[in-house]
Amino acid sequence: MRKKSNQTTKTSTNQVKSRETLQLQMKKLRENMKKIDHKVAVISGKGGVGKSTVTVNLAMAFALHGYANSVGILDADITGPCIPKMLALKDRQIQSTSEGLYPVVGPLGIRVVSMGFLLPSDETPVIWRGPLKMSAIRQFLSDIAWGELKFLLIDLPPGTGDEPLSIMQLIPEMDGVVIVTIPSEVSQVVVKKAVTFSRKLKMPIFGIIENMSGFICPECGKKINIFKTGGGEKIAQELNTPFLGKIPIDPEICSDSDSGKPFIMNHPDSPSSKAFMEIVQKIETSLKKKAEVKR
Ligand SMILES: Nc1ncnc2c1ncn2[C@@H]1O[C@H](COP(=O)(O)OP(=O)(O)O)[C@@H](O)[C@H]1O
Ligand SMILES: [Mg+2]
Repeated sequence: MRKKSNQTTKTSTNQVKSRETLQLQMKKLRENMKKIDHKVAVISGKGGVGKSTVTVNLAMAFALHGYANSVGILDADITGPCIPKMLALKDRQIQSTSEGLYPVVGPLGIRVVSMGFLLPSDETPVIWRGPLKMSAIRQFLSDIAWGELKFLLIDLPPGTGDEPLSIMQLIPEMDGVVIVTIPSEVSQVVVKKAVTFSRKLKMPIFGIIENMSGFICPECGKKINIFKTGGGEKIAQELNTPFLGKIPIDPEICSDSDSGKPFIMNHPDSPSSKAFMEIVQKIETSLKKKAEVKR
């Protein structure tokens, strides 16, 4: 019999080691996820429709709704992380202690993990292919001590690519996804893809949110439907998916995001903030119903 070369032996030892590391990581990931009651991902077919804005405001809405210090956000947009800026946490870092890595803690005790905390500057691009992105997400879920949480909201980049797929595969027990769209017809085409993607992966859909839905002119009080209106509701009906609500365009949403103030806390009485609170209640009702069915 021919002897194995040193190189071959080294390669197979490395393969065994990396398999063991992966198994250990997946074990830690499952243990971590068991401590989080509900995981909700925010997805869309298109970019710029307000996923990150919705994630931040839904997370804050949950915190305001009785779950302060019990909500987390995983910014799973590896190449375009923006949650740290939206919560004025840009200069903070993930804490490394002898007991582990800890999320950055923001307003109302919200625990945040983002690639943004690991990059040396805003201009540093992350130029990674799929497997590296998946590995980063796996580490965020396994190596970070998230602790006990009621809700973990996961902000994803647009579309149905590497990050959403990784998240769905790594957290198969996810409670469901929230799909964000704007009312225009162009956006409706891609919403269908997001719905089909979730259904193919057997991910429950909480429903569709129509963001940027109409604008009330501050000068004359007239409603102007910049991106049309009702498209989200229409597509929800067409696809037999719940409709969660409409968030109007509000220039303060944009300026609050830019200055890192959670809009829902800064403008609690605005129609958009009320819409966010109603959506959170709908998600909670849907979770309660599911729990009753399981019993
Ligand atoms: N309802 C809204 N009214 C006004 N501005 C909004 C609204 N929703 C989102 N924005 C702004 O639109 C831009 C894109 O939103 P963002 O959440 O980053 O989208 P995505 O995560 O889908 O790419 C941001 O500048 C944000 O402040
Ligand atoms: Mg985003």
